[in-house]
Amino acid sequence: MSELFKAPKGTYDVIPPFSKLWLQVKTALSTPPILSGYGYIETPIFEDTALFVKGVGESTDVVSKEMYTFEDKGGRSLTLRPEGTAGVLRAMLENRMDRGALPAKVWYTGPHFRYEQPQSGRYRQHTQVGVEAIGSMDPALDAEVIWMAIYAQRELLSLKKVRLLVNSLGCKDCRPAYRNELVKFLDTLDLDENTRNRATINPLRVLDDKRSEVQALLIDAPLMPDHLCSDCAKHHAAVLGYLDALGVVYENAPRLVRGLDYYVRTTFECVHDGLGAQSAIGGGGRYDGLIETLGGPSMGGVGFGLGVDRTCLAVQAENIELADPTQLTAFVIPLGTSAEIVAMKLLGQLRSAGIGADLALDGRSIKAAMKNADKSGAKFAVLIGDEELASDNAVLKNLETGDQVTVALDLVINHLSK
Ligand code: HAM
Repeated sequence: MSELFKAPKGTYDVIPPFSKLWLQVKTALSTPPILSGYGYIETPIFEDTALFVKGVGESTDVVSKEMYTFEDKGGRSLTLRPEGTAGVLRAMLENRMDRGALPAKVWYTGPHFRYEQPQSGRYRQHTQVGVEAIGSMDPALDAEVIWMAIYAQRELLSLKKVRLLVNSLGCKDCRPAYRNELVKFLDTLDLDENTRNRATINPLRVLDDKRSEVQALLIDAPLMPDHLCSDCAKHHAAVLGYLDALGVVYENAPRLVRGLDYYVRTTFECVHDGLGAQSAIGGGGRYDGLIETLGGPSMGGVGFGLGVDRTCLAVQAENIELADPTQLTAFVIPLGTSAEIVAMKLLGQLRSAGIGADLALDGRSIKAAMKNADKSGAKFAVLIGDEELASDNAVLKNLETGDQVTVALDLVINHLSK
């Protein structure tokens, strides 16, 4: 016998029963953007490599180390999307959404690919639900985007251990002077070689170092929020004011720096305290300037990406039981061949009436069929034997309590929809 194939390293299959949670999480994360009038967008899974190099930034780990890049048969360099923003903005510009009613707001979901060292919560293929809203500099838009992210996690998924970190990274006017100050400060520290290299490429990333010994050295580091220009300070205060008005609980996180180069002003991350190292279940922020970099007009934008995989881990870590709208109501069991046609007809009627139902197959014995019924998660078994056939009845057995009643076949739907 030949050996079975395995899923590629760093990937996993989403299969039942876990897939139920996965879909519930994806649906919950997608709900706020739908409720907020965002339109759905779907873009190719691969794009020109140059789009990510330009859009995400050559110095980022995502672009320099983690991209799945290949040449197609026509000699084009293509890359499996490592993140959603660059491709979605490319599509919005190509389809002239920047010239229609503004802000233009879209949401998306799908797989993203990063060649990372796999571990729990870090995969080579992961799924995000994201939004991008372009064409407005209004801080209310930043607050709306943050609200959507945290509302899904806290209210729709009931996560208790999620913290919302908010920061401002300043703009092209105030960040360079701050960066110089930070570099001067970092030069005074005794940093290891790797960290020193990081400091040369992007000094702000050093602030986000998770190691406590590095954080101890950084205790007196200058911080961006203390060096914002007056426009950025005003914008940041307005965003926080809107979050307060929305009743969103957040933490000021002056050391928060995200792993992608395009952010300016508002940045945020949702971290879950039950996940260990891969604690970021979502993040986003403003990226004024990126649209111009991608060849579009000078206009602002803001968005987020929420990790479906990590959010599932967070729901599991908190042992949250989500209400399940897809649970089957009925498991229909024909007893004997003459009941099979009647059972199939009833099955069709139940499903047409919007009642989730399944059917025992292969002429199983009542014992085996009842086992299937229990496993299916259905609330009722609907049994049709010779006696019921003769009287146009069915037996409804409540699989939780064991109670059973005989009802007329044409009243089964009525009974079950109660
Ligand atoms: P990101 O923070 O790189 O942002 O990714 C968003 C989320 O995707 C993360 O918070 C995490 O939950 C999940 N994620 C990322 N990489 C992995 C991985 N290797 N395995 C499992 N989950 C992962 C972005 O991608 C930005 N495009 C978000 C954004 C949209 N900013 C503005 N608009």
